Amino acid sequence: MPQWKTYDKGDALPEDYKKALLNLMAFQADSEYAGAQRVAENMRFAPRPEEAYRLSKKVMEEMGHAYYVWSLMADLGVDVDARLQELVAHPDNPDPKKVKVINGFRRENWSTWFDDWYDVGLFSTVVTPAAVAFLGQYRECSYLPWARVNVRIHKEEHGHLAFGVWATKRNIEFDGDKAREILQSRVPKFMRVGLGFYGRPSAGDKKSEMFDIYYEYGIKVRKPEELQQEYMELLEPRLKELGLELPQGVEADYEMRMGYEAADAPLAAHA
Ligand SMILES: [Fe+2]
Repeated sequence: MPQWKTYDKGDALPEDYKKALLNLMAFQADSEYAGAQRVAENMRFAPRPEEAYRLSKKVMEEMGHAYYVWSLMADLGVDVDARLQELVAHPDNPDPKKVKVINGFRRENWSTWFDDWYDVGLFSTVVTPAAVAFLGQYRECSYLPWARVNVRIHKEEHGHLAFGVWATKRNIEFDGDKAREILQSRVPKFMRVGLGFYGRPSAGDKKSEMFDIYYEYGIKVRKPEELQQEYMELLEPRLKELGLELPQGVEADYEMRMGYEAADAPLAAHA
């Protein structure tokens, strides 16, 4: 891994670096919040009080993740109140010019994946490991305040993965082999999202141009193929623990990635 120049709170940031940094921080913060909104919508599927309680804890922690990252963006002069207000006023369809929500956390995409509580448990088992791997890399990024909040976020995301395994175990415990069969048939739809979460591999003709810029600045410190490997290392033993098989030949859905759009997309500043 290269040795990147690091910056701490209050350090002057080069203009291009700051732009690229804020772009990724905005993706994380806005998407954490939208993710909390989506998870809250899944409450309608909760089958038992303990499940409802644990899901609400996940919602609160996701809102916390947005709050921590937005606080750092506010230190850099971004009007984060406007971002929160856009998300709460238009939860179903926030304006992409005002907030940066990953496609997967937009209601029109998210809502197609969930029919019942099986899907809720499976999402946290099969997609969350991609978020654990992806966001985990920010713990080592060159902007140290952001690296530090991601240490805490990473721990809580690991907790969400544990929630998924717990919820899925309970589904099998309460509903038996019939549940396991249904769950097995749904693993691929979530794996497509998990595999596509961190973008296209960094070599080859389909690579993303933005990735090179982020990597050069040490804002992204892992290549997509390294993240994919970490994802599989997290996923495989958990499926095994649940008595589920790892499906073969699943194709990544890159439309659900964390976002590589142009670094110069506008960010509203404080008035
Ligand atoms: Fe989160």
